[in-house]
Amino acid sequence: MIRSRITGIGMYVPNNVVTNNDLTKYMDTSDEWIQERTGIKERRYADRTGETTTTMAVEAAKIAIERAGITPQDIDFIIFATLSPDYYFPGCGVLVQRAMKMKEIGALDIRNQCSGFVYALSVGDQFIRTGMYKNILVIGSEKHSFGLDFSTRGRNVAVIFGDGAGAVVLQPTEKEGQGILSTHLHSDGESAEILAMYNPGTHANHWGNYASFDEAEIGQMFMSHAMIDTAQNFPFMDGPSVFKKAVVKFPEVIMEALEANGLQPADINMLIPHQANLRIAQFVQQKLGLSDDQVYNNIQQYGNTTAASVPIALCEAWEKGKIREGDLVCLAAFGSGFTWASALLRW
Ligand code: UT7
Repeated sequence: MIRSRITGIGMYVPNNVVTNNDLTKYMDTSDEWIQERTGIKERRYADRTGETTTTMAVEAAKIAIERAGITPQDIDFIIFATLSPDYYFPGCGVLVQRAMKMKEIGALDIRNQCSGFVYALSVGDQFIRTGMYKNILVIGSEKHSFGLDFSTRGRNVAVIFGDGAGAVVLQPTEKEGQGILSTHLHSDGESAEILAMYNPGTHANHWGNYASFDEAEIGQMFMSHAMIDTAQNFPFMDGPSVFKKAVVKFPEVIMEALEANGLQPADINMLIPHQANLRIAQFVQQKLGLSDDQVYNNIQQYGNTTAASVPIALCEAWEKGKIREGDLVCLAAFGSGFTWASALLRW
């Protein structure tokens, strides 16, 4: 039986470290509030003009490809997850193909926000299992710092997010029990507007989520001055509602993965939860009865890097020797959409 396996992993975070105290220069917040509510101490911000979502992805991909023992020209498919693409369109996949001088391979962009990387991994897994591709590059990358409201108005969102990228190479394995055992994907669009960036978009207030909408002239509906003046071009989040749903769906989707494989929480060697909030990860750990060395968190250093958070945490845990061959690794994510997902891997 052919399964897919992660044979190379890499991460990249910008050099620029931004502490909680640094943020107090722009907004009414405090190190104490941020640490107490989220666990975050600092995050990285990309160079404003020198780095993009794609350039960070390329740095992570170079490492993943080298560790897999192949070259960029061997990659036969790219899957790129991000909510902060270089362009509204085309997606970042083609920019990676160009930057890494790859062959004229397929490039797919995934728009699933926090669960984007796990969704992307699941898609790659299917292509490997069917034998269609042999060397797939799966990326999660975000440059959040370019699109946050740094005034006090946006503080509930701005303090949480950070920049960075993670990448893996997926290849086939026929070794019994090794590789991605299963993936589990879910969505519930009822709460689509609870964590969203409404503009630019084509909705024209069709879903009625605005108190006021500027009926701009034709050609200006996509992005109008009024939208910018009223900060509608920044992400909106009803944090407490997201939190409440996350602490239910994380354990649920992890248990679903374990049950599908006849396993239980005690069998997990390493859980890599999406780094949304340390309090959410701690709640999930407690709910599943996992010990500290069964869960890896690094939100303290990087904040929430959305689609990049799972591959960054997975890479760091692996680099620190916390994941070894034969280990059972569980990846799980929940976020905007809502969408949530898990993957169970035998390393
Ligand atoms: O990865 C995507 C998925 N996202 C998540 O999973 C996020 C889930 N939600 C959360 O992590 C939490 O809801 C937050 C960390 C975003 C917020 O924490 P909270 O404990 O739910 O706070 P809150 O939104 O209920 O706000 C409490 C208070 C409010 O003030 P009042 O109304 O009580 O006076 C906020 O205005 O904290 C205030 N506040 C802040 N104060 C200082 C909100 N943001 C800040 C801030 N600094 N940055």
